[in-house]
Amino acid sequence: MDALRRMEYRGYDSAGIALVSEDALVSAKKAGKLANLEAELEASPLPASHLGIGHTRWATHGAPTDTNAHPHLSASGRVALIHNGIIENFASLRAELETGGVRFRSETDSEVAAQLVGRAVDEGLSLADAMRAVAGRLEGTFTLVAIDVQTPDTLVAARRNSPLVVGVGVGEMFVASDVSAFIEHTRDAIEMGQDVIVEVAADRYRVTDFDGGEAHGKPYHVDWDLSAAEKGGYDWFMRKEIYEQPRAVAETLLGRFDADRRLTLDEIRISESELRTIDKIVIVACGTAFYAGLVAKYAIEHWTRVPCEVEIASEFRYRDPIITPHTLVVTISQSGETADTLMAVRHAREQGAKVIAICNTNGSTIPRESDAVLYTHAGPEIGVASTKGFLTQVAACYLLGLYLAQVRGTKYGDEIAAVMAELESMPAKIQQVLDRTDEVVALARELADRPSFLFLGRHVGYPIALEGALKLKEIAYLHAEGFPAGELKHGPIALVDEGIPVFVVVPPRGRDQLHDKVISNIQEVRARGAYTVVLVEEGDDEVAPYADVRIELPHASTLLQPLLAAVPLQIFACEVATVLGHDVDQPRNLAKSVTVE
Ligand code: M6R
Repeated sequence: MDALRRMEYRGYDSAGIALVSEDALVSAKKAGKLANLEAELEASPLPASHLGIGHTRWATHGAPTDTNAHPHLSASGRVALIHNGIIENFASLRAELETGGVRFRSETDSEVAAQLVGRAVDEGLSLADAMRAVAGRLEGTFTLVAIDVQTPDTLVAARRNSPLVVGVGVGEMFVASDVSAFIEHTRDAIEMGQDVIVEVAADRYRVTDFDGGEAHGKPYHVDWDLSAAEKGGYDWFMRKEIYEQPRAVAETLLGRFDADRRLTLDEIRISESELRTIDKIVIVACGTAFYAGLVAKYAIEHWTRVPCEVEIASEFRYRDPIITPHTLVVTISQSGETADTLMAVRHAREQGAKVIAICNTNGSTIPRESDAVLYTHAGPEIGVASTKGFLTQVAACYLLGLYLAQVRGTKYGDEIAAVMAELESMPAKIQQVLDRTDEVVALARELADRPSFLFLGRHVGYPIALEGALKLKEIAYLHAEGFPAGELKHGPIALVDEGIPVFVVVPPRGRDQLHDKVISNIQEVRARGAYTVVLVEEGDDEVAPYADVRIELPHASTLLQPLLAAVPLQIFACEVATVLGHDVDQPRNLAKSVTVE
C-alpha cells in the first residue's frame, strides 16, 4: 500500500491489489482514491503473502468503477494481471475470446490481456511464455504484470512503450512504473528496454525479448532517497516542489563549466561538427514542457541565430513535418514517459534527425531512445502540476542554447560567461520571490471566487502567461486564458469585463519598446474595467498608476525573467485551489505521466 501511495500520482480513479496466498489468488479493488481501497482492506484484510501486484488507474476504456479497477482475473481465476497503456486491438481480441466462451467482467481493454494470458497458462504454457505469446498479439502500448497461482514465487512483466523498472533489493525484488514505488527498500534499479519480458523472483530476475532470446536491462543507482518522494511537512507536493525551485535550478546548472570556463555538456553525445551543420531546431513537448520550449525559442534563436520551431508533440508526426538530418530535435519531458513526446522522438529519428532529450527522470524511455540527453536533476516531481519541472526545463534549454552558441561561434566566450553568471544568480533570486509570497497568497484568497482569469505577456512573458493560465485551469478548475498582450485587441479583449482579474507580466525596462508596449496593453484592459495584477521588476514605478496589485520581482534580464515570473503564478494557483478545497496534487481527470497517445 505504501508503494501504491507513492504511485498514486500517476492515476487515482481506482486501485486494487491481488496476492498469491496458499493455493489461491485473493484480490481487492475499489473505485476512487487509494484511501477507499485501504478502508476496504482494513475492514476485510487479505491473508499474508510474499507475492502480489497492485495498480492505481487512470481510466481510458471503461468508467472508474470497482469492476473496471485492476487487477483483472482470468476466467479460471488462476492468473491476475495489471496493465498500463492502451490495447488498441482489444475489440477483436475480446470478440475472439467471447466466441470461445469467456465471459468478461469489465469494460476495460486490459481484461483482454488477463483472459489471453489465463487461457495460455490453462493450455500448458509457463507464465513467461504465455506473456510472450500474448505480448506478440497486442497492438498499442502496454506494461503488463501478472501472477499465476501455480508459480507462487515468480511474477512476470512485459513491456512495450509503457514504463517499467525493476528494483533489486536483498532477498526481495520489485517491479514498478517508476522507482518511487520501491525507493524505501532499494535505490538499485534496472532500466528495461523495449519489447522485453522480465521474470522476477525474490532473489533473481531474468530478462528476455519477445522472441525468447536473452536480453539485458541497464542497472543504475537512484541518486535521491525516500525523503525526496515525501511531502516533508508541506500540505501539498506541489507547494514543496515550488519551494524546492532554487535548489532544483542550481542542480540543473551545476558542473557545466570546465577549468577554462567553457560550457561542457557531457551528456550531449552529438559531435561538435554535427552540431555545426544544424540548420533548424525543432522543440517538441506537451503541456508545461511545451511552454518551457516556447520560452527557450526566444533565447535559442537570439543566441544561435538558428531558426527554432516549437511544436506540440501530439501534433508533430501527423502533419508530415519537414525534418532532415540537419534538423536538431529537442524534446522536453519531465517524466521521460509522455507517449506523445516519445512518438515524436521516434518519428524524428526515422527522418534522420538527431534528438536531444531534456528530461528529469533517469532511466526513462525518452532519453533512452534519444541520441543525447540533458538531465535537469530537479529530483522527483510528484504534484501533477509541474513547477520545478518547468523552471529546470527552461534552465536546461538555456544551457543547450548557450552551448550551441559556443560550438557554432555565434557568441563570444565572455558573452556566454556573462549569461551563465546571470543564470547562476537565479536560484538566489527565485528564493527572494519565495520569501515574499504573503501578498500573492492574500490575493489568491481574495480572488478565489472569480470565475474567469486572463494572463498576458509579450516575448518570453507570453509563454509565462500561458503557463500561469494552465496552472489555474488544471488545479483550480477555473477558466483561465493566456494571450500575447499585443494580440488582445484582435479579439480576446471582448472578454474583458468589469472586475475580471488580468495578470500581466511586465518585461524589465530598457529593451526595445517592449516594456512600454506592455504598459499600453495594461491601460487598454484597465480602461475596460479589468482588475490588473502586474508582475513587475522592483523599482519599476511607471506601471504603478495602472496596477491594482503589483507583484515585485528581483531584477533579471528579459530572457531570464521567466525563471522569476512563473513562481508567483504557481503560488497563486496552488493557493486558489487550496482555498477552493481541491486536491492540489491529484486534480480531477489528470495523471502525472500521460503514457497514452
Ligand atoms: O512529463 P512531461 O514533462 O512530458 O509532461 C508533459 C505534460 O503532460 C505536463 O507538463 C502537464 O502539462 C502538467 N500537468 C502541467 O502542469
